Amino acid sequence: MSEKKKPVVLSGIRPTGDLHLGNYFGAIRYFVELQAQDNDCLFFVADLHTLTTAMEDHIDVDAASIEVVRWYLACGVDPDKAIIYRQSDILEIPMFALLLGMVTPEGELHRSTTYKEKVKDLEGKRKLVSFGLLAYPVLMAADILFCNADIVPVGEDQKQHLEIARQIARNYNRYFSDTHTIVEPKSHMLEPIRVPGLKGEGKMSKSVGGPDNVIYLNDSEKEIRRKIMSAQTDLGPEQGQPMADIMKNVYTLLELCAPKEVYDDYLRKYENAEQKFYGSLKKDLAASIIELVKPIQARYNSPECSPERVEKLLAENAEKVRVIAKNNLKKILVDMRFKNLAESYD
Ligand code: TYM
Repeated sequence: MSEKKKPVVLSGIRPTGDLHLGNYFGAIRYFVELQAQDNDCLFFVADLHTLTTAMEDHIDVDAASIEVVRWYLACGVDPDKAIIYRQSDILEIPMFALLLGMVTPEGELHRSTTYKEKVKDLEGKRKLVSFGLLAYPVLMAADILFCNADIVPVGEDQKQHLEIARQIARNYNRYFSDTHTIVEPKSHMLEPIRVPGLKGEGKMSKSVGGPDNVIYLNDSEKEIRRKIMSAQTDLGPEQGQPMADIMKNVYTLLELCAPKEVYDDYLRKYENAEQKFYGSLKKDLAASIIELVKPIQARYNSPECSPERVEKLLAENAEKVRVIAKNNLKKILVDMRFKNLAESYD
């Protein structure tokens, strides 16, 4: 990192399955945008977080982590402009999580909407609801606060987690900031976005609404067309009636993926309550998505995104990030009155 402090941008994705348009539009495209500006960027794979829910799915976490990084590179995250690393390579992060847990308001963890949703889902399947799941936002705060990140590009579903990280930073500063103050991180925009699913099942997600609710970055043209053509719609617009939620989903995707003129044209059609244009809208939407993912898929399959290159990159970057982490851990250990332990980081 440079002497004069640039804003630190940090974000991560869990290796829990193939990446999809929600991850792309909610997060990765901002990684690419923010790395092109005057920022110090850190993007990582949140592999430890997979244990909070996917323990019984027996994911091959190492292989899945490599895949996430391959998609980062394929989408345009540039290892010359951003440091890409793996969470579990930075042993100081779990130590940060332990220490920050001491200033985490426990009630906020129980109030987290994501936690409540996950509990409902896991209990329905008679799976273990762990302390690790409850403490998910603490580990996420450690991910963000260990390097004093200023900006955290994430989708709308992560807003609450980010707010908890801010509270943890505030509490730390209130109790312990004798020499070192932790930055309160912000989102990259006032209203982070939410990419809807195709089946009216809330957000596009690996875990909600089945595979046809999601467009994966590695879906074939045929799959994309099939999924889009079977996306839920209403029976057609009615003069003077507001747009149904199910159609808002389709239009949100169209706005994200299609050229502005195409989106505006279909919006006009809806507002004028024209009939029988959903078929052509869906064809145009599918074509726009294919145009978006095709070059990404081509790069993903090229040597520049090979697993070997990714492994090398992760090994190199683990060292760089550990230097930053050790440096900051030392500072908080001093403030938390663990001078002996802090000295071991000299
Ligand atoms: P994960 O893997 O669930 O999601 C990764 C990113 O994709 C965004 N996202 C979406 N955005 C908009 N619409 C959607 N349908 C959609 N689906 C997913 C998520 O908001 C997220 O930005 N907790 C993080 C991982 C993490 C992290 C961190 C992120 C762990 N530590 C520190 C930032 C900073 C997560 O949700 O991963």
